[in-house]
Amino acid sequence: LAIDEYEFVVKEATYTRLCSTKKILTVNGQFPGPTIEAQHGDTIYVNVYNQGKQNITIHWHGVLQPRYPWADGPEYITQCPIKPGGRFRQKIIFSTEEGTLWWHAHSDWSRATVYGAIIIHPKVGTRYPFPKPDAEVPIILGEWWKEDITKVLQQMHDTGGDPNISDAFTINGQPGDLYPCSKQGTFKLTVDRGKTYLLRLINAAMNIILFFAIKKHNLTVVGVDAGYTKPLSSEYVTISPGQTIDALLSANQKPDLYYMVARAYSTGSNHHFDNTTTTAIVQYKGKYSNPTSSSSSSLPSLPFYNDTNAAFSFLGGLKSLADKKHPIDVPLHIRNRIFTTISVNSFPCQDNNNCAGPNGTRFAASMNNISFVNPSTALLQAYYQHTNGVYGDNFPDMPPFLFNFTDIFLPLNLETPKRGTEVMVLDYNTTVEIVLQGTALMGGIDHPIHLHGYNFYIVGFGLGNFDIYKDPLKYNLKDPPLRNTVSVPINGWVTVRFKADNPGVWLLHCHIDRHMTWGMKTVFIVKDGDQPEERLLPPPPDMPRC
Ligand code: C2O
Ligand code: CU
Repeated sequence: LAIDEYEFVVKEATYTRLCSTKKILTVNGQFPGPTIEAQHGDTIYVNVYNQGKQNITIHWHGVLQPRYPWADGPEYITQCPIKPGGRFRQKIIFSTEEGTLWWHAHSDWSRATVYGAIIIHPKVGTRYPFPKPDAEVPIILGEWWKEDITKVLQQMHDTGGDPNISDAFTINGQPGDLYPCSKQGTFKLTVDRGKTYLLRLINAAMNIILFFAIKKHNLTVVGVDAGYTKPLSSEYVTISPGQTIDALLSANQKPDLYYMVARAYSTGSNHHFDNTTTTAIVQYKGKYSNPTSSSSSSLPSLPFYNDTNAAFSFLGGLKSLADKKHPIDVPLHIRNRIFTTISVNSFPCQDNNNCAGPNGTRFAASMNNISFVNPSTALLQAYYQHTNGVYGDNFPDMPPFLFNFTDIFLPLNLETPKRGTEVMVLDYNTTVEIVLQGTALMGGIDHPIHLHGYNFYIVGFGLGNFDIYKDPLKYNLKDPPLRNTVSVPINGWVTVRFKADNPGVWLLHCHIDRHMTWGMKTVFIVKDGDQPEERLLPPPPDMPRC
């Protein structure tokens, strides 16, 4: 029954939100875009046609694409963008994923409106490791700008400063009752008392981590990033850009209307953020007299906007299911150790003008003090065809110099990053550990770090500087959560582990788009193994050209 070939026509469409109308880029005119449904282990095709005015690429976030980076999507990393009028038939290879993922544009900032859900069902004859829900529903959180998103990005480039913050958050494309001109469209989930619903939560926001909750209803988290977790009951969840959460909602309250809400989790001393709240409604079927109003007493309470402990106690509660049917495989002996700082920094303003970044500089961002510059042709092709001069293989496994990373009195100009296109080359099947260390440069901020082509085990995290003697003793090697995106707490660290068993060219980046645009990314090249089934599959015939 499942469709194995989708048509994605990327084109502009007119949408009205917050009392104003604009053209946005969409897939098939839909916003949010179409949902892809598949079964565990399926291979499907998506024909992407670019009928817009700008270059585009599409990425299947969290799909591992074994041995097949060709259709992964990030522009200038695995492919040249699809030009207006062009087309690319992308093969999506599902392997171990089961649950919720999503797809989004991966060129400039077009993912602001070009995104949709991916649902991977268990194979026929197999089941969820939890009672079968009565219904399933994607809940996609997003951000809306009244301004054209290309202008938001352009202005950020031109000024060197922060981009304008969004005007609303959205649930399934709708801002909700608390915003002007929005009540009509508010997303409603109609429920029957006594039934259970599987919410497939996705954070598609551009620049912000979110808290999410439903009034008077706990959520039972059963999966994250298309992998099962031990059931975790929680009043709220923390979800970073890129992440997905599968959570059960039991309709076990008195019939009424109840708000679901999402709001920013935002740290960083002088960081402006959108402090508005998006809402949707859980509506019980049946008759009741006194429907909820939009007074604040009817909203569920969420942690305070900068409550880092609340944000990360949720991560601390997440454990892999780690049972017989869902065994885990955490690397215990590590061959490749990488310690990388992740920093927001700044460059001097080039032509002696005043830029809008800190102290008249331009914002930059870096990993191990390298601010990544996209090549002008696709890195994967350069690797495959042995073309010289496109990238270097000198991404360091240590910062260039050590300092007290999380000292809040660090001078602004402590590190001026180097611009470069440096990758790290890994042998096939090598075991890798990455310690991601946030720094207090520019005050510090949380960074949701995403790796393409892999899931990683999150074996530890903490605040402050990583302590190489003490912190590894506390690693969870028994049932750590397996994810494709992990938030590194402000002025803190995270350790992840994976086995490099997927050959290819895979991007590692912050999923806060302004940080990625400023250069917080690098690339892993995982070499082929010796056996034929350990090597890259050949490219498709219609790879776009630069
Ligand atoms: Cu969700 Cu590199 O992307
Ligand atoms: Cu970041």
